[in-house]
Amino acid sequence: MRVDVVSIFPEYLAPLDLSLIGRARASGVLDLAVHDLRTWTHDVHRTVDDTPYGGGPGMVMRPEPWGEALDALVPVEEDPPPRLVVPSPAGVPFRQALAHEWAAESHLIFACGRYEGIDQRVLEHAATRMPVTEVSLGDYVLFGGEVAVLVIMEAVTRLLPGVLGNADSLAEESHAHGLLEAPVYTKPPGWRGHDVPEILRSGDHGRIARWRRDQALIRTARRRPDMLAALAATDLDKRDVAA
Ligand code: ADE
Repeated sequence: MRVDVVSIFPEYLAPLDLSLIGRARASGVLDLAVHDLRTWTHDVHRTVDDTPYGGGPGMVMRPEPWGEALDALVPVEEDPPPRLVVPSPAGVPFRQALAHEWAAESHLIFACGRYEGIDQRVLEHAATRMPVTEVSLGDYVLFGGEVAVLVIMEAVTRLLPGVLGNADSLAEESHAHGLLEAPVYTKPPGWRGHDVPEILRSGDHGRIARWRRDQALIRTARRRPDMLAALAATDLDKRDVAA
């Protein structure tokens, strides 16, 4: 997968060199480049922003550098075209389903806005050439899109084939089946007066699977009733309903 990130703070993306994302890059699974938006400015001050039309506080990112950046990063003949992702508190919620969709793309371009955001015509024009998604990490406001890109790239990269040593962990984790994952334990069996639940040490795989499913349902009901309500009746079995 190819990924381009455009930002006025390229150093913010330095963690993309580390850990498993860094390893995915080194192994060639991920071909990632970070670009400084100011590369595509032409004045001495390397200006990227201006005051908003219609008034109001803050500054808006001017369209020209963004237009040139996208012209440079999107080859005319690229087929299929890349997907442009623009992190914004006004975007659609980022969820595991989007991470799966984007992990199947061949080329993603992230446009990191700062200030009050990017002139909307950049997105309108880009949408004539490629799919564009404005995406939000959650109902809060960050300084800019850079940290959102770190989060999204971590969620996407771990779904790329060959990145996780044990692909089974993808099947069981939180959000894989619309439920939060059950709690996990390791050695020692007793620690500071707290014991590992006996059933996990029983060796009875059927009962363990049932216990984990019950714990996932209880957690989800308490912490994320919205997720439980969204589960189709067909996702629940008779024993779930009893639990
Ligand atoms: N940029 C600023 N706030 C954001 C948020 N909540 N999600 C994604 N990008 C953002």
